[in-house]
Amino acid sequence: MSAPSEAERPAGQFVCTVDEVGLKRALRVEIDGYAVAVVKDSEGNLYAIGDACSHGEISLSEGDVEGRTIECWAHGSSFDLRTGEPLTLPAYEPVPVFDLTVDGPDVYVDVKNILNGVAAPELEA
Ligand code: FES
Repeated sequence: MSAPSEAERPAGQFVCTVDEVGLKRALRVEIDGYAVAVVKDSEGNLYAIGDACSHGEISLSEGDVEGRTIECWAHGSSFDLRTGEPLTLPAYEPVPVFDLTVDGPDVYVDVKNILNGVAAPELEA
């Protein structure tokens, strides 16, 4: 069997397999020098968000996943994984939510396709 052609492959980059992210866990990956948290919620749905809390430079992938939210361990702000919006203070600005595609066992994230309109990350050339 041959590798999928460019046209058949999902947009973005391969980042991990579905099984590499545990239920209610997050995996930090880097795409062109930009850190992304791939998060699996309590129902097994996957999301890709910027891996930096909007309140400070804390890695959200180190936080707790509850339902469809992830909580920053530093000061407790909780972010909606679908919208990137903070649900609790002290964070008041959203984090970017990226297009994520599951293709069989593989997970692809397109950091150039931001679903919630948050400013694009600076990527390494
Ligand atoms: S650094 Fe995340 S809530 Fe303060």
